[in-house]
Amino acid sequence: MSSYRSRILGVGAYVPPRVVTNHELASLMETSNEWIIERTGIEERRWVSDGQTGAQMAAKASEQALERAGVPAQDVDMIIYATLSPDYNFPGTGVFVQRLLGLKEIPCLDIRQQCTGFIYGLSIADSFIRSGQYKNILVIGSEIHSSGIDVTTRGRDVAVLFGDGAGAALVGRAVDDQQLILSTHLHADGSEAEILWTEYPASCHNPRITVEAMNEAKHFPRMVGKKVFKHAVTRMPQAIMEGMVKNQVQLKDIDMVIPHQANLRINQMVAQMIGLPPEKMHNNIQKYGNTTAASIPICMNEAIELGKIQRGHLVCLVAFGAGLTWGSVFLRY
Ligand code: UT7
Repeated sequence: MSSYRSRILGVGAYVPPRVVTNHELASLMETSNEWIIERTGIEERRWVSDGQTGAQMAAKASEQALERAGVPAQDVDMIIYATLSPDYNFPGTGVFVQRLLGLKEIPCLDIRQQCTGFIYGLSIADSFIRSGQYKNILVIGSEIHSSGIDVTTRGRDVAVLFGDGAGAALVGRAVDDQQLILSTHLHADGSEAEILWTEYPASCHNPRITVEAMNEAKHFPRMVGKKVFKHAVTRMPQAIMEGMVKNQVQLKDIDMVIPHQANLRINQMVAQMIGLPPEKMHNNIQKYGNTTAASIPICMNEAIELGKIQRGHLVCLVAFGAGLTWGSVFLRY
């Protein structure tokens, strides 16, 4: 049995320069800055332009994570790429990041757990490092939503929520118990998978997409918002409590909670439900919207840059998303 443990060596993030304000969206559909801010907290988000790809954003975030870790790209043993918006149907986007970073023949694993993707990715990386098989693993969340949302009034409930961006963490071997991934907690329940999904194009339909399906907007994400909201405010507190029990820690011991950025109201409600003081939760959905698998590393990166997360801090990452999937990671940064 190997006795290796893992830790986060460095974190990086990248968002495209184009800022899309709520006012700009209100010029495309019947919505308003006031409605979006009141219901979601979002003020603006970023959209790619000039043909920028998810892999390109991921490579930029990864380069920053590697630089901060002080690890050369050539020492990366594996890429785990979490996304619900792969650049292409296949192959997975991880290989394009591998190519951009100039890495050769290391395994690239694309995973599909939507907003919980980064949590699943960290858990997989932790397991590979604990097993002794790999030493340095890049875990990436990268998303382009702007090319896949219905920016008409028909799709406004979803379109105003999402943004583009990427975040990455280099996970490596721990050397002591001051910087350590302590535990990971993963869950899924497919019984209501269709309350948040994109149905077309799909291999279970032949042909995979039709003009009729497109006319019915079935190639855009669809969500039963209120149901998803209720699940989110149930599952995220559960995932936080699960990690607290596992690690025998109390709320006062936690330095910072980084929740998935789906809706500021959800996160405020989660904090209130478990009695977490607001200053112990960092949110930045106001600036970036919901970037699904990228939201946790983008938010964690900002909290580190602001000094809200420091080396040795006890940090809880927690997410909920389509699938339905949810989970948490407890770590000493
Ligand atoms: O990251 C994955 C997880 N995702 C989530 O956790 C999202 C969870 N759900 C939510 O955050 C909220 O349900 C939303 C923000 C999506 C929607 O907020 P809501 O308070 O649940 O609103 P609603 O869907 O019940 O809609 C209320 C009204 C409706 O009008 P009527 O039927 O009352 O006349 C909607 O048509 O607001 C209308 N509406 C809008 N109005 C202006 C829906 N979207 C918009 C919009 N602008 N963008």
